Amino acid sequence: MAINEENAPVEEEFWLFGYGSLIWKPPPHFDRRIPGWVTGYVRRFWQVRTYHRGTPTAPGRVVTLISRSYWSTLSDPHPSPPDDKVWGVAYRIEPAHVASVKEYLDIREINGYTIHYTPFHPASELHPGETKKEGPIKTLVYIGTPENDQFVGPQDPQELAEHIYRSRGPSGLNRDYLWGLERSLDELSPESGDEHVRDLAERVRGVAAREEGKGEGEREVVGRDVRREEHEGHHAFGRRESVDEVEETEKTGV
Ligand code: BEZ
Repeated sequence: MAINEENAPVEEEFWLFGYGSLIWKPPPHFDRRIPGWVTGYVRRFWQVRTYHRGTPTAPGRVVTLISRSYWSTLSDPHPSPPDDKVWGVAYRIEPAHVASVKEYLDIREINGYTIHYTPFHPASELHPGETKKEGPIKTLVYIGTPENDQFVGPQDPQELAEHIYRSRGPSGLNRDYLWGLERSLDELSPESGDEHVRDLAERVRGVAAREEGKGEGEREVVGRDVRREEHEGHHAFGRRESVDEVEETEKTGV
């Protein structure tokens, strides 16, 4: 912690990187939200979720980050992003709330996720008068590493899509999480789409069309309608005063 002129401790600013549902469900007490990317990782739906979008007996699947060096030792049907960017958003937590939010975030393990720090590269354009772009920024990130027992590793894309289609939990359908992520990523920048997410989302739309008895021509409508519902329900990017809607975290009342 830094010290001011009166030798009193002052909180330094604190940033959190979101690459999953944090993109459209912000943490409490943020005062800035910046789209951008981190490097050295690959985003995959390789983490089991036993609550929120699944149950202990029928777990869903959510995203985690895999270090590129480890990922390159695996056999994955999906290729890696060619530009080594995992897009998401960085949130700055208001200084007055840093201590309470850190305390809240200081849960060493959340359903298999652990806390890591990584440089974040803001995608922001230069503002008038600025001569160089902001960043990189040190951000805290939750990662379900391969050692955690909820990490499932490479999946057959069609089996994974069928699994996501079938999974649901107290927070809703697993497929709404997938479609919400696809849509939120597409909205960050023209380059922020993720092929792994897009391919799974497309496959799940195909499963939904088949299961729900829709014809070929109606496929797109199945996903779009549900994605819009998901989006309109949560996509406010406003500040929230409590964390109970942040589905990846457990505590409330920061
Ligand atoms: C997120 O970036 O949305 C996230 C990922 C894993 C755990 C918690 C949040």
